[in-house]
Amino acid sequence: RAKLSQYNTIDDAVHLLQTCRNIIVLTGAGISTSLGIPDFRSKGTGLYSKLEHLGLNDPQEVFDITVFKQDPNIFYSVARDILPNTERYSPTHAFIALLQEKGKLLTNYSQNIDNLEAKAGIKPEKLVQCHGSFATATCVKCGHQVVGATLFPEINAGNIPRCRKCAEGKRTTNNSRKRKLNKDGSERKVRRRPGDYDSNSDSEFDLPTSACGVMKPDITFFGEPLPDEFSKRLTEHDKDLVDLVIVIGTSLKVAPVSEVVPFLPPRIPQIYISRTPVSHVNFDIDLLGDCDVVVSELCRRAGWALDHEMIPKD
Ligand code: OAD
Repeated sequence: RAKLSQYNTIDDAVHLLQTCRNIIVLTGAGISTSLGIPDFRSKGTGLYSKLEHLGLNDPQEVFDITVFKQDPNIFYSVARDILPNTERYSPTHAFIALLQEKGKLLTNYSQNIDNLEAKAGIKPEKLVQCHGSFATATCVKCGHQVVGATLFPEINAGNIPRCRKCAEGKRTTNNSRKRKLNKDGSERKVRRRPGDYDSNSDSEFDLPTSACGVMKPDITFFGEPLPDEFSKRLTEHDKDLVDLVIVIGTSLKVAPVSEVVPFLPPRIPQIYISRTPVSHVNFDIDLLGDCDVVVSELCRRAGWALDHEMIPKD
């Protein structure tokens, strides 16, 4: 049930866009589906529908940190399908960049891990990647962090990427053991067991599985805290400045991002743009449909040029 509000229509939304100066845009997977990237919960096309073959109790287990630590194979069996592999961004990304250009974007809180906001030109200081991204990855064992893209070849090859830092530590240990001398001063030959590291090889993938940690992309799994920046920026910076909230392409099923709208004072107008209505959050204005079409129409009515090709439907 919509709350009683002075804002109801698409023209009210256009007026708000034209007059507001500190807009929070909260986005989800729906803003990237026109690029062929699946969302999570759309029946049939969403990632969770496509994971039925894994036989999980709940497809969200793919992104569960406890499950990952027990068996990283489950995540890595789907990881290559969700790697960011496009340079393109959607008209909706372009719309958010346009708000930034007009000096109206307070913050884009994105739940997406495709990093396309950056491709569209959203500045790092205007972007909170609430669920992290593939930009970096960290070893679950020693905490060593690397550029995420360095793991992509291993992920695409269907392997579990492992930590080079742990491997170096292991190499040092192995080498020092090998350098032990016999009583006569000659070098003692060390008999290698099957699975032992081969010091002549440069690859850490020769190590036995347990020897070095599994690398995990720095996307926020269920059971992990969100980046500090999320609540810090929302509560200490944005809360007192925001004058409009626009939520686009998210089912608002995952906390704490789903709590952003109820957290903000109800006097702040809130617009929801998505294919599917939500019943658990009351917005002032619901603009239901394809978000690229909706934002294009908003811009047209506002007299703004949204300089972006529309993505043809296949
Ligand atoms: P969902 O898949 O839950 O919701 C996407 C919403 O966007 C749905 O309501 C779709 O109907 C809508 N949608 C899809 N394509 C659209 C389009 N072209 N135009 C308009 N609406 C469209 O995705 P999120 O809400 O982003 O977390 O999911 C939230 C989190 O759940 C994700 O960040 C992920 C997932 O588990 C983690 O992995 C930690």
